[in-house]
Amino acid sequence: MSLRSGLLYALFTALVSSSDGLLSPRGTNCSRNSYDFVDPLIGTLNGGHVFAGATLPFGMAKAVADVTSDNQGGYASNGSPVTGFSHMHDSGTGGASSLANFPIFPYPGCSNDSINGCIFPKTTRAVNVVEGSVSARPGYFAISLESGVKAEMTVSNHTALYQFTFFGNATGNATVNGPLSPLFIVDLTDLPDSRSNGTASVDPDTGRMTGTATFNPSFGHGTYTLHYCADFQGNAIRDTGVFINNRGGSDPKNITVQPDVNNPPLPAGTYTWFKEIENGGHIMARVGVSFISSEKACHNAETEIPDFSFADTLATAESAWKDKLSVISIETTDNCDTELQTIFWSGVYRTMISPQDYTGENPLWESDEPYYDSYYCIWDSFRSIHPFLTLVDPYSQTLMIRSLIDIYRHEGWLPDCRMSLCKGYTQGGSNADIVLVDAFLKNITQDIDWQTGYQALIKDAEVEPQVWDLEGRGGLRSWKNLGYIPADDFDPYGNGLFTRSISRTVEYAYNDFCIAEMAETLGNQEDYEKYLGRSGNWINLYNPDQTSDINGTATGFTGFLQPKYLNGTFGFQNPIFCSPLLSFDQCYLNSNGHETYEGSCWLYTFFAPHDMATLITTLGGPDTFVSRLDYLHESGLLYVGDEQAFLTVYQYHYAGRPGKSAERIHYYIPSQFNTTTAGIPGNDDSGAMGSFVALSMMGIFPNPGQDVYFITPPFFPSISITNPATGKTATIKNINFDITYKNIYVQSATLNGKNYTKNYLTHSFFLEGGTLELTLGPHESTTWGTGEANVPPSVSTK
Ligand SMILES: *[C@@H]1O[C@H](CO)[C@@H](O)[C@H](O)[C@H]1NC(C)=O
Ligand SMILES: *[C@@H]1O[C@H](CO)[C@@H](O)[C@H](O)[C@H]1NC(C)=O
Ligand SMILES: *[C@@H]1O[C@H](CO)[C@@H](O)[C@H](O)[C@H]1NC(C)=O
Ligand SMILES: *[C@@H]1O[C@H](CO)[C@@H](O)[C@H](O)[C@H]1NC(C)=O
Ligand SMILES: *[C@@H]1O[C@H](CO)[C@@H](O)[C@H](O)[C@H]1NC(C)=O
Ligand SMILES: *[C@@H]1O[C@H](CO)[C@@H](O)[C@H](O)[C@H]1NC(C)=O
Ligand SMILES: *[C@@H]1O[C@H](CO)[C@@H](O)[C@H](O)[C@H]1NC(C)=O
Ligand SMILES: *[C@@H]1O[C@H](CO)[C@@H](O)[C@H](O)[C@H]1NC(C)=O
Ligand SMILES: *[C@@H]1O[C@H](CO)[C@@H](O)[C@H](O)[C@H]1NC(C)=O
Ligand SMILES: *[C@@H]1O[C@H](CO)[C@@H](O)[C@H](O)[C@H]1NC(C)=O
Ligand SMILES: *[C@@H]1O[C@H](CO)[C@@H](O)[C@H](O)[C@H]1NC(C)=O
Ligand SMILES: *[C@@H]1O[C@H](CO)[C@@H](O)[C@H](O)[C@H]1NC(C)=O
Repeated sequence: MSLRSGLLYALFTALVSSSDGLLSPRGTNCSRNSYDFVDPLIGTLNGGHVFAGATLPFGMAKAVADVTSDNQGGYASNGSPVTGFSHMHDSGTGGASSLANFPIFPYPGCSNDSINGCIFPKTTRAVNVVEGSVSARPGYFAISLESGVKAEMTVSNHTALYQFTFFGNATGNATVNGPLSPLFIVDLTDLPDSRSNGTASVDPDTGRMTGTATFNPSFGHGTYTLHYCADFQGNAIRDTGVFINNRGGSDPKNITVQPDVNNPPLPAGTYTWFKEIENGGHIMARVGVSFISSEKACHNAETEIPDFSFADTLATAESAWKDKLSVISIETTDNCDTELQTIFWSGVYRTMISPQDYTGENPLWESDEPYYDSYYCIWDSFRSIHPFLTLVDPYSQTLMIRSLIDIYRHEGWLPDCRMSLCKGYTQGGSNADIVLVDAFLKNITQDIDWQTGYQALIKDAEVEPQVWDLEGRGGLRSWKNLGYIPADDFDPYGNGLFTRSISRTVEYAYNDFCIAEMAETLGNQEDYEKYLGRSGNWINLYNPDQTSDINGTATGFTGFLQPKYLNGTFGFQNPIFCSPLLSFDQCYLNSNGHETYEGSCWLYTFFAPHDMATLITTLGGPDTFVSRLDYLHESGLLYVGDEQAFLTVYQYHYAGRPGKSAERIHYYIPSQFNTTTAGIPGNDDSGAMGSFVALSMMGIFPNPGQDVYFITPPFFPSISITNPATGKTATIKNINFDITYKNIYVQSATLNGKNYTKNYLTHSFFLEGGTLELTLGPHESTTWGTGEANVPPSVSTK
């Protein structure tokens, strides 16, 4: 496609935003709005673990079909059979499956029309999915089972609403050889099979099923207790009862289970059986959930979806999503590149699934503050999710920050990971520090108790918790006295996983830098100097003599972070170890882990987000730095499916080479982030990958924890964000935009009409609004964004 001027170009574009769009001048239908582009099925194959079902933005109820394999998000597009429909999930997590408590399972009828003709255990009741039957959009999910059941679902905040349609011509294991007399069970189970005890009952008059059970969190410590309340509508009740193991009966009407020798725990629960229904008939199921009581679960359901109206509930969910998406608008080309728009809007969408709003549902403490949960995990989310929310949904981000501070008030520590009311595991530093400071620097609101927030940061930096796997930091004595975490640390002041000495060191250094930034703004000079001093500790693990080769061939780069002992001498970890080229899986969170977490020394050597100027000098100057960064991206050493990779895409900016950052991001999108069900390179991690893509395609990836956004050309002719707090609109326009992406290099820029030579923005642009115009060309500019004055700040050159 030939180059076109911005003015001419505008004639050929159609504005696509949340409002109903227009037909483009050439009559192509580009009028789908942002909502229509969201594909919740992206990332439901090959470990993306994305939750594909129905949810409100940050909602607690998340309804989807649960399958038997790779089911961390409930449903996966891998053809494995369905064990039930459940009402709460997490999205994109690694490790064990989460939640999915109290699945309901519909039988079109029981064999021989007898109760024990229905198969209760989930291992054997699973039914295959009708191929091609899955359909998903924000707030809605549908799937058909070979047993002759079509299931459609939508949600309110704490309630799932299902419409089941029954067909008599079922095939497969659940073939009905009797009348179409649907039976529903609620099983006292969850996806990880973690139930310890539980109780369930059914009301014989109404068919209402209620109950309670205690489960384990999927990546944390302790237990949680959840309650449900399921009601049905659509047909007369034939019978009710309970089941346990593989037998059911209509007497009694309640059942209790306590821990025993069975593993997995025994199938157990209640059923409601309906009279014969016509072929194609519906039964509605409404399931409320609550962490408080089953009465509260019923109350949630009755108040949120009083009339079982699927259409109304879905319409409310759709409009909630359209509202959230309306903050961003993009101008698109007349050739309707739906692939890129789908990648973009789906990424935006996935960032608003979690954390989940459990306000009013927290049984752990009394508080008027909001309570959000499923920070899963902050090690992943500080890098792009929270900065993205600060930009497009400062209201929710504010509630999340308040909730983090309230968790500190009541639990004594900020979480590094938290799910299902339980403490989750810490992966590196105390990275909630970064989340708080990022929001603080960006003035999201004054409605936050920053004094208490600051106290929480200082506690992370100063006080070692007894179990530092669950909060805070380990090795603080060494950190303060030696300035690094020794590989052979002696730390009798607490206990935790004694691994990751290198990655913990660089993360603690950056955590301390963020604390210093806040101290400075608060005018606390003493703290400022103290934490600024500690923020330089990353360099203590830099071994200038360490070389790196791959299979005996030198990479040509010298100087890497290396493990260091208490006695001050360096140890050795092959710099490529735990990269995709060598034993990637040897650096997970277990006692066999090594000195870096989910990445190599090669990767962690780049982690000095606050002092890139010193890092560049240390590694041999800008040219060597750029070739080392190139090598990282081009040699196979980097796995972009893990969040530490994000910053490395943009670190060229610090060497005055913003064009190289643009090249990199165009390499990764769409080759690694695309519209297929396998279109995410790693776990989505609650939208970490989604927000990486969204921010990158908008051309404003942040350095989280600092007031810095790296400028790269947006992937669309222009993008706008209307700040929901200030109502001001910030627009970034590409001049000479070219859909084949030859022109990805900024030649010059103007901000509100004035020349702008810095290669980064600050948040004031988004608070105050304005227009940034980028003039693009096909070759890297030798002038724009280069030179010390135009690169983002480093603490050593401030
Ligand atoms: C354009 O596409 C949207 C979504 O697919 C559809 O709702 C709309 O009716 C279409 N408009 C025209 C004019 O074809
Ligand atoms: C159904 O009834 C038939 C005939 O009595 C019997 O052979 C079969 O085993 C029964 N099936 C079940 C699942 O009970
Ligand atoms: C259906 O039943 C067969 C035979 O019992 C079993 O091997 C198969 O796994 C079942 N299919 C599903 C989806 O459960
Ligand atoms: C869901 O909860 C949020 C946060 O409390 C609220 O703003 C929203 O209106 C609720 N949505 C519905 C559909 O009730
Ligand atoms: C099953 O019934 C539905 C609805 O009557 C019909 O659309 C479908 O084609 C039938 N499937 C088979 C395999 O007969
Ligand atoms: C279930 O287990 C939890 C956690 O162990 C315990 O607090 C609760 O009392 C138990 N409930 C019943 C009914 O046994
Ligand atoms: C179960 O029902 C029996 C009889 O109605 C009642 O005595 C008992 O308290 C109930 N148990 C539970 C756990 O609801
Ligand atoms: C190193 O050599 C081994 C054995 O020949 C080979 O399997 C491996 O792929 C090589 N690794 C790299 C990164 O070249
Ligand atoms: C320092 O400690 C390490 C690990 O215990 C040991 O291998 C090394 O020999 C020690 N070096 C010196 C100089 O004592
Ligand atoms: C889509 O993304 C996945 C995950 O990164 C990647 O494996 C796959 O090759 C990509 N597919 C295409 C067609 O680019
Ligand atoms: C602004 O930039 C343009 C083109 O890059 C240049 O011609 C002009 O002199 C600059 N204006 C100022 C005031 O620097
Ligand atoms: C952020 O808040 C501080 C303190 O209230 C104020 O000085 C500063 O100007 C604000 N920055 C922006 C960009 O609004």
